[in-house]
Amino acid sequence: MTMIDVSRLPKAELHVHLEGSLEPEMLLELAARNGVDIPFHSEEEARAACHFTDLQSFLNLYYAGLRVLRTPRDFAEVTHAYLTRAHADRVRHAEIYFSPQGHLRRGIAFADMMEGVIEGMTAARADMGISSGLILGLQRQYAEDEGFEVLDLAWPYRQHVLALGLGGPEVGNPPEKFTRVFAEARRRGWHTVAHAGEEGDAGYVRQAMDLLHVDRIDHGVRCAEDPALVRTIAERGITLTVCPLSNVCLRVFPDIAAHNLGTLLRAGVKVTINSDDPPYFGGYIDDNFRACQTGIGLSDADIITVARNGFTGSFLPAEEVAVHL
Ligand code: HPA
Ligand code: ZN
Repeated sequence: MTMIDVSRLPKAELHVHLEGSLEPEMLLELAARNGVDIPFHSEEEARAACHFTDLQSFLNLYYAGLRVLRTPRDFAEVTHAYLTRAHADRVRHAEIYFSPQGHLRRGIAFADMMEGVIEGMTAARADMGISSGLILGLQRQYAEDEGFEVLDLAWPYRQHVLALGLGGPEVGNPPEKFTRVFAEARRRGWHTVAHAGEEGDAGYVRQAMDLLHVDRIDHGVRCAEDPALVRTIAERGITLTVCPLSNVCLRVFPDIAAHNLGTLLRAGVKVTINSDDPPYFGGYIDDNFRACQTGIGLSDADIITVARNGFTGSFLPAEEVAVHL
């Protein structure tokens, strides 16, 4: 049986965290340049640290690592490096999660981070033709009130912001905590997305849909615990931004063969494949596609459907989506 060469397919990446795209090499370089202490001192030590037992064990390392980002140049470099690497996997469009609260709390000016990230995105579009926009991710461990401040800070940069998002430790921080700020984002005309059903159960997915009225669910795989919910997701055409290698690393599934991505596809759910935090989870988008091809047994037709879902599930205007299909 032939298998399609996934590296040749044009793709959109809808779920990747800018701060989670720092490669060990750049992390060490920025740590040295900025005089920031990090919990490892070589690329080998950094890679060895990437063994996780759950979401929180990953977030601890991720929060330690992102502290190396300090200047506009740092933010521009990490953004351009991710987009260059994604472009090598034929990513034509990326919607990048960026979480300002962790940086604001370290005393980084909002203008410094945004101007750096925008410079990186603008340069990548000019050099490689890759389009991108930001998902401003609120961190769910913090109070909802802080979210309104983030909305106000981001307003002058709205041309580059596609959506409000929600990430961080899921269990104990349900979507309902952010009902008002998500309503305000929608009132301002932004799309909305939220991580739900990664660590949290199907109820978190339902809340994200019914209370936050999100356009997409990040991960969402635990919706499968509630067959009626799966049917609703399929009927409404809600996109799930699934990250298979991340799910295995964080023990959402014991191994790739046990992943339910194929089952969700079969149930009519609009599934996409994404990398989440690629160096931390051992792969970029093509690695994730290949893992599904060989580990889950997705057919060529499935792979093509999932790649197209990336574009139709994106926040690109319809006429730009059409160019990619
Ligand atoms: N889940 C929640 N928060 C995150 C993740 C994730 O997979 N990656 C970076 N922040
Ligand atoms: Zn994520």
